[in-house]
Amino acid sequence: MAAKKNWIPARKSHLRFYDNIPLYYRSPSGNIILYKPAGMSISDQSLQRKYSIDEFFIHPDNRLESIDAAQKGFSKDLIEQIQTKDAGKLKDSLVDLVEETLAAPRAGGISSIPKTVNALVNNFSEKPSVIKNFTKISFSDYTTALHSVNVMALTISYCYFIGLSETETQEMGLAALLHDIGKTEIPSNILKASRRLSDNEFSIVKSHTTKGLDILNLYNEPEIINAAAGAIEHHERLDGSGYPNGIINISYIGRVLAIVDCYEAVTNDDRPYRTAMAPMEALEIIKKDVDSGKLDKEIFKDFAYSLASRKTK
Ligand SMILES: [Fe+2]
Ligand SMILES: [Fe+2]
Repeated sequence: MAAKKNWIPARKSHLRFYDNIPLYYRSPSGNIILYKPAGMSISDQSLQRKYSIDEFFIHPDNRLESIDAAQKGFSKDLIEQIQTKDAGKLKDSLVDLVEETLAAPRAGGISSIPKTVNALVNNFSEKPSVIKNFTKISFSDYTTALHSVNVMALTISYCYFIGLSETETQEMGLAALLHDIGKTEIPSNILKASRRLSDNEFSIVKSHTTKGLDILNLYNEPEIINAAAGAIEHHERLDGSGYPNGIINISYIGRVLAIVDCYEAVTNDDRPYRTAMAPMEALEIIKKDVDSGKLDKEIFKDFAYSLASRKTK
């Protein structure tokens, strides 16, 4: 039996997806015991009984399988929620799905994500308000998953506004969703610190760009590899003052994400060391970086208009 620390706590909201995953619980004497084997579902009633006793665990050997099962479950929910235009529930499922994805990005966890983004983009042209409303739905806990979902929603509506094709929009949306994937490898006490970071800590945070590139390069799927430019370049600036490489020839996705990422970060109120700004105020701040030559002028203009647009086909 694996050491206790390796057992993975199963989230209650995910249990319904684990019919094919063996689940374990901790007995009063502290031993981990099989609760149900693979292939057996847990009825709601028995779930309630066990909840009051203990938490469920997943064996480390079943980690990837459990991530896959949860991703499939949330993707299924997503498609239904897109159809019913339930933006709140849709965002809930998407944040859960992305959190699952972020749990083991180097172990293959990202593979099912392009399909999800494609489904969102396919439906966006019919129901743009559903995804546009995403960024207005706030969550109590500001996580990398939530930030990524917001950046994706803003990027998709920007792409739609400027008239990119469905395929291009899917590519951009996926890159947006994965731009901060390297943060999964930055210690959370540094990421969530509500104080000013030391120089050393800040350079650790900055390494999320190179770590993101490394993670995405592990995949053979072309659409995931295409997202790598966004991960490595979203903190680069056109005057060379950005990181990690200080380049000035920045890819299109890198230039778009630089703007969308800043906008999302300053308009969200649950970030450490910051308070939220209203959209106009946020655009004023970003405009300073446009005027000083750090951010792309044309993209900024289109992005600002895309926020106000109610364009529908
Ligand atoms: Fe970032
Ligand atoms: Fe970001």
